[in-house]
Order: sequence, then C-alpha cells, then structure tokens
Amino acid sequence: TAPEHKAQKLAGPPAAEALLRETAERAAKLAQKPHLSIVRLGEDPASVSYVAGKDARAKETGLSSTVHALPEETTQAELLALIRQLNGDSSVNGILVQLPLPEHIDEQEILLAIDPDKDVDGFHPMNVGRLWTNHPASVPCTPQGVMYLLKHYGIDPAGKRVVIIGRSNIVGRPMAGLLMNAHATVTVAHSRTRDLRAVTREADILIAAIGKAHFVTPDMVKPGAVVIDVGINRLEREGKKPKLLGDVHPDVAQVASAMTPVPGGVGPMTIAQLLGNTVAAAEEQAK
Ligand code: GUN
Repeated sequence: TAPEHKAQKLAGPPAAEALLRETAERAAKLAQKPHLSIVRLGEDPASVSYVAGKDARAKETGLSSTVHALPEETTQAELLALIRQLNGDSSVNGILVQLPLPEHIDEQEILLAIDPDKDVDGFHPMNVGRLWTNHPASVPCTPQGVMYLLKHYGIDPAGKRVVIIGRSNIVGRPMAGLLMNAHATVTVAHSRTRDLRAVTREADILIAAIGKAHFVTPDMVKPGAVVIDVGINRLEREGKKPKLLGDVHPDVAQVASAMTPVPGGVGPMTIAQLLGNTVAAAEEQAK
C-alpha cells in the first residue's frame, strides 16, 4: 500500500514566539510598561484558564497586568462602573472583558462602554467598523493571530478561495473582514448553510470556527487545501486536565497540504496577539 499522505503541520508555538519577541521589543521601548486590565465574571473553567494564561504571558512579555475576578452575581451597573473607572485611568492601556458573560449581563452594552482606544479585543462597534472599512485599528485577537500564522508559514490568501465555517463576532466575522482586506475571495458558511460539503470543497484555505469537535471530515476538504482549525472543544475528564479537541477530524491531515494541530496550533496565537494589541494601544496612547 502507498504511504499515507500527511499534511505539513502548521505549529502555533514558533509563530507565537516570533510575535511575542516582536511584542516584547516594542514594549521595552515604551517609557512605561504597557498595562492590561482583564475582567472576568464567575468561575467558568475555560474562562478561568484563559484569563490566567493571558495574565501570565503578559508578565513574561514585559507588560504588567491586573485581573479583576468578580463574582458571578456582579450587576450590570457594577460592571459598567468598573469599566468607566478603567477607561478613566491613564495607567491602563488595554481593557479586556472575558466572554461569555453571565446571562443577566447585557454584553453589547458592556462592549460599547469600553473606550475604543483601550479595546484590545476589537469588539467595540467602532473597531468593528474600522475593520470592515479597511481601516483596521484594534482587531479581534484570534483571527488576527490566524493572519500572523498564515504569514509566518508563507501562505498568502490573496486571490484564493477561503471558506470560513462559523459566523461569530469573535472569530468568523472578523476573520472574513481580515481576509477580504487581504484580497481573498471569502465565503462564510454556518449552521444553516445548505450542502455545506459542496461549499467547503471549494476552499483553497478552509477555516473551521464552529465549536463542534471533529466536525470537519476528510470528505469536506479539497485535496491539497490548507486547513486552519480554530476549535478548542474541552472534553472534561474526572481527575484529569480536560482533553482539547479541534473542530477538524485528525484524518483531514491525509487530504490537506497543511493543517494546524489542536492543541498547539491557533491557540497560542490568540494570547500573543492580545499582547501585541495591548502594546499597539500603549504606543498610540503615548503619542
Ligand atoms: N472568549 C473567547 N475568546 C475570547 C477573546 O478572544 N476575548 C474575550 N474577551 N473573550 C473571549
């Protein structure tokens, strides 16, 4: 039998390290250490783990950071008051409110309250508009991190057909804007797309941001395509760390020309990009 084909592994850590190095150098040039304020509500295990990672990486990269870990019961008014305090504090360069927020919080009102110049997540409608008019300022970290990873591995989306599965505000939509700005032909597919397989098989670059473990199977992928797996599905296990599964089935590596692994693919890019956004905000504010 013929040897199995295996896609090139697009490992996140080398790309993330390169971005963190650039970020640390820029941070060191500023008169004051850039400061990131992180806000989270409640004890969702994924959010606790992500926030701890962001805080630790910030400090390792020569930034300072504060975590405001508030109880689940925090009211809309209390959260707004904290955001206004951080907006007015000139020692704070970046503000990040970890999502998802509890049910009783109006997320849109919270995101609107963050000073757009300190909005390192790029979720404020002002920053969304800047991205979609091709004048990007702060751009959501995960899709911006995917762009850095593609560039790191010499993959230029210009002129290519890109299919994104998923239309979230955090990944799918901003990913589409960034790729359009980079001259790709972009299709955004989602749970209501008819004959999804026919759509995804058109992709030169397929980006999976669905949130369902191993959703993308080899029959959905054009041979030779580049596959970017943004999924982090946590399989909780008794007495052990949760197992992380991507949105892409590992067998897709036998069809794709290149593919990001999970873990160790897009994940590390998100935090690196967050720190990049924080340093960029601090640079702007120092002008
Ligand atoms: N929840 C999942 N991803 C993100 C992110 O990039 N930023 C924030 N604030 N919350 C998230």
